[in-house]
Amino acid sequence: MTLSPQWLDELRSRTTLSTLIGRTVKVQKAGREFKACCPFHNEKTPSFTINDEKGFYHCFGCGAHGDAIRWMTDQRGLGFMDAVKDLAAEAQMEVPAPDPRAAQRQEARATLHDVMAAAQDWFVAQFNGIEGAAAREYLKNRGISEKTIRDFGFGFAPDSRGRLKEALSVHGVDQLVEAGLLIKVDDRDPYDRFRGRLMIPIRDPRRRVIAFGGRILGHGEPKYLNSPDTPLFDKGRTLYNLDKASPASRQTGRILVVEGYMDAIALAQAGFEDVVAPLGTALTEHQIERIWKMVEAPILCFDGDNAGQKAAMRAALRALPILRPSHSLNFIALPAGQDPDDLIRSEGPQAFGALIDQPQMLGEKIWQVEFEAEPLNTPETKAGLKKRLSHHVRDIADQDIAQHYRQDFQERYENAFFAKRDNQSRQRPFTPSKGGFKSPYVPFKPMDDTKSVLIDGYDLRIAKGILGGLMRHPSQISKHFEELTVLRLADSQMQALLSELIRAAMRKEMLDMQGLLTILEQTDCYNVAKGLLRADALNFTFNRKMPDHAPSDVIERAQNDLAEAIKVITARPGLEAALAEATRRVQDNLDEESYAEQQRLRQAKQEFHERLVEITQVDDIV
Ligand code: UTP
Ligand code: MN
Repeated sequence: MTLSPQWLDELRSRTTLSTLIGRTVKVQKAGREFKACCPFHNEKTPSFTINDEKGFYHCFGCGAHGDAIRWMTDQRGLGFMDAVKDLAAEAQMEVPAPDPRAAQRQEARATLHDVMAAAQDWFVAQFNGIEGAAAREYLKNRGISEKTIRDFGFGFAPDSRGRLKEALSVHGVDQLVEAGLLIKVDDRDPYDRFRGRLMIPIRDPRRRVIAFGGRILGHGEPKYLNSPDTPLFDKGRTLYNLDKASPASRQTGRILVVEGYMDAIALAQAGFEDVVAPLGTALTEHQIERIWKMVEAPILCFDGDNAGQKAAMRAALRALPILRPSHSLNFIALPAGQDPDDLIRSEGPQAFGALIDQPQMLGEKIWQVEFEAEPLNTPETKAGLKKRLSHHVRDIADQDIAQHYRQDFQERYENAFFAKRDNQSRQRPFTPSKGGFKSPYVPFKPMDDTKSVLIDGYDLRIAKGILGGLMRHPSQISKHFEELTVLRLADSQMQALLSELIRAAMRKEMLDMQGLLTILEQTDCYNVAKGLLRADALNFTFNRKMPDHAPSDVIERAQNDLAEAIKVITARPGLEAALAEATRRVQDNLDEESYAEQQRLRQAKQEFHERLVEITQVDDIV
């Protein structure tokens, strides 16, 4: 499409720039111009000037300069055509369509947009109606505020095959199918795609709804159901929350990439608004390119578990061929088993803030993943590492960048295997400019008090399971006195409950669950205690409700598992610290001894993990 200079001039002159900008920042009249605090850099006294007559803005502080279209692209993050269309709609100007076919396509898209807007309104109405009660309750339990619900446009799809079809019938079944709202199988009657789900609208940068994600309430498969690709929605090119993240990133100079919608929403609610998420697929090249239009080095915040770290590595390798000067990816690894939403809820926003303050750089990430991929204890395995690294370098298209990576990897490799052992002063190669080389296994500080064992992070979940288990099996409290008394739970409510349990068991030798609850009723911990008995997230064998006449082997197994979990949780922080220390030694000067020690600790850690997984596999005992 070509737009004539005359047409663009007309568009500019019909747009009042100060009004447009005034929607985003506070503007003040100053003589014939307007002044504002510059939205492109941080300042307290306004040096941003808007001239309506000339139709441009200029910042004397940072040099930002442009017209209405430039404002829409640079501040709002729209593409050029989208910016023009938005402004034209407001100025009541017709955007000239270049040829009839394109005009037709545009027409079709316009009607699909209407359909999606109508669907969004309808889902929101259902959410606020009687049937939406469960959905509202669900979000409340997840700590989502009323404001967040409105900002993100949560809706609800009733559990029915024909309600949406009927409610939106004016748009015609064909349109509804094309919009992905109805499913059509062969010749059969099309029916509603989203049934009994919490609805999350997915918007384009112009804030128009182009697709939906539907989350099941409670358990069931699939957990999330997304719109199919449609003329409006291309999954691999869309980023969830881009409409809000793009302007936010102009303030922060940062973009966070998370794996799920709910992570993006939870982060935004916690004040991290510059966050996007892919839509259930690995990050694509298109998405990386799109993010690079906003910032040079987004931070990928993936789960610390295997799947999350694989996804991170996949994104890293996808970025290599398209790397260009100044553009890269950064990484943080969350504690295993936690996504950003979990972390914020269990540890608070500061814990997440601390993690993103020290991201790992791309080269460091790739080195670390490859270095830890397998034991490197033979010449063959060491050479294998070298080969994998040089493959990655070969994937980098930009030759300058490739050369740097080649040299960096080379230095790390030599330092790892050929460094002189007595040369203590030798610098570690490729030291990142900030943050230092970080081990992925120490997301939290090891404790310094040698007597007590501080439990935080993802171990807190296990701790909760244990507390719930001790309530179901109160006889076990005194049995584990020694270990329980040195535990320090970072969550003060949980710590208080633990103390009450110990106190109760000390006072009374023979305790059953009812007796224990009666005692707890007198304390501040009662609600927390009841909550743990209800919580379905606690799925260890010992969290299961024991039937009245449960077979003794079932009870015994639960209690053995409880003992095991207590052992794991008390031993792990020490193990993590030792492992972190060993990893540091290996990275500083790789000698066989440190390496063997590190491998032994990793093995121990793995065994702990497997044991935990085992006792979480509850088979039905009733
Ligand atoms: P997760 O399974 O990690 O879910 O999926 P989550 O984001 O933690 O969600 P909650 O907290 O349980 O509600 C991450 C992303 O993968 C996609 C979705 O985009 C989701 O946000 N996904 C997941 C699907 O598309 N389908 C699924 O069945 C599951
Ligand atoms: Mn989650």
